[in-house]
Amino acid sequence: MKILAIETSCDETAIALLEASGGLRAPKFNILKNIISSQVKIHRLWGGVVPNLAKREHSKNLPIIYQKIFEISNFKFQISNLDTICATVGPGLEPALWTGIEFAKQIYKDLKPQNPNLKLVGVNHLEGHIYSFLLTQKTGISNYKFLISKSFPAIALIVSGGHTILLKMDSLTKWKKLGETRDDAVGEAFDKVAKMLGLQYPGGPEIEKLAKKGNQNAINFPRPMINQKNYDFSFSGLKTSVLYYIRDNLSTNNEFNTNIRIGKFETNSLFADIAASFQQAAIDVLISKTIRAAKEFKAKSIMLSGGVAANKQLRKMLKAKSYQLKANFFAPPMQFNTDNAVMIAAAAYINCLRKKNRKISAQANLNL
Ligand code: KG4
Ligand code: ZN
Repeated sequence: MKILAIETSCDETAIALLEASGGLRAPKFNILKNIISSQVKIHRLWGGVVPNLAKREHSKNLPIIYQKIFEISNFKFQISNLDTICATVGPGLEPALWTGIEFAKQIYKDLKPQNPNLKLVGVNHLEGHIYSFLLTQKTGISNYKFLISKSFPAIALIVSGGHTILLKMDSLTKWKKLGETRDDAVGEAFDKVAKMLGLQYPGGPEIEKLAKKGNQNAINFPRPMINQKNYDFSFSGLKTSVLYYIRDNLSTNNEFNTNIRIGKFETNSLFADIAASFQQAAIDVLISKTIRAAKEFKAKSIMLSGGVAANKQLRKMLKAKSYQLKANFFAPPMQFNTDNAVMIAAAAYINCLRKKNRKISAQANLNL
C-alpha cells in the first residue's frame, strides 16, 4: 500500500510517502520520503505554540514540502500508484489541523480522476504515536524484534506535549486505557519548568541537556500520585513545587533578573540541579506506574512513544526496568519520537487493514 501522509496537528508541518506491507502480523514500512518543517524558531519568540501562527506557517509550508516530495531526481514513484492519502484529524490545534485536512482534500480531488481507487482517510495523532514503535532506522524491514506472538499483552506509555497515557494492549489493534494525566501532560511540565529556568521552547530537550550537568538527588521534588493504586498521573503539583523552590531559593539574591539569569545560565549549577531533580521526579512517576501495570498484567512488552520518549534518561531507565521483568522494550528511533508524518502513515496502514476509516474532519479533542 502506497501512502501519502500529512501531519499538521501542532508546530511541525510534515509530509511523508511510504510503502507499507506485511499486514497486521508483520507490518513493515519503506519510507520513500519524509520531510518535516519545524516552526519552533517562530513560536520560540512567544514562549510556546501560537495556534494562528501555526496555521499560517502550515499553509505556507505545505505546498512547498509537497512539491519537494515529488520533485527529487531519480524518484520513480508515480502518483497514479498512490493508494491512500491520509491526514491527522486530531487531537491538536484546530486551525492547524484544518490546514492539513484541507490540503489533503485538495490533493485527493486533483488526483482522483486519474486514480479512481484512491482513498482519503483521517488519522488519530495518538495512534500515530502508538504505532511509531513499528518504525525502524533501516526502512523496508519489519521491526525485527517485534514478534506478534511474543509481544502481547503489552503496556504502552504515550508521553507528549499534550498527553500522558498508559494503555494495556492485547494486540496491535485492541487496547484499554489504564490511566492518563489529570492535569498537565508530562511534556507540558518539561516546557513550563524550562520557561521558569529561562530556557527556550520546546523545553524538554533543554531540560535534558541542562540536567546532565546537575545532581538529580539535590532537591527532593514530589512524585505526585506515585503511591496511588490507579494508573493516572498528575504533573501540575510537581511543576508548582519547582516554581516555589525557585522563588524561595533564588529571588532574594537577584538571580531572577532575566538578563542575569539567561547570561549566567550555563554556569549556574543550582539551575542544573533543579533541571536534573525535576526530570528525575517526572521519570520516577512514569516508570513506577508503567512497571506496576506491566507486573499486574504480566506484560510481555513495554512500549514508549511521544515527544518525551526522546528523553534518553527515560528511555534508558525504562528499558533497564523492562529487561528486569524479562519484557521486550520498544521505542521508536529518535527521529520518530516527536511529531512526524511517517507515524501517521503507519497508523493509516493499520487502520486500513482493519477497515477502520476515520472521517476527515478536525477533532481537536480526539482521544484514544
Ligand atoms: O509528540 P510531540 O512532538 O508533540 C505532541 O504531540 O505534543 O511532543 C512534544 C513534547 C514537548 O513538550 C517537548 O518538550 C517534549 O515533547 N520533548 C521532550 C524531549 N524532546 C521533546 N521532553 C523531554 N526530553 C526530551 N528530550
Ligand atoms: Zn505528538
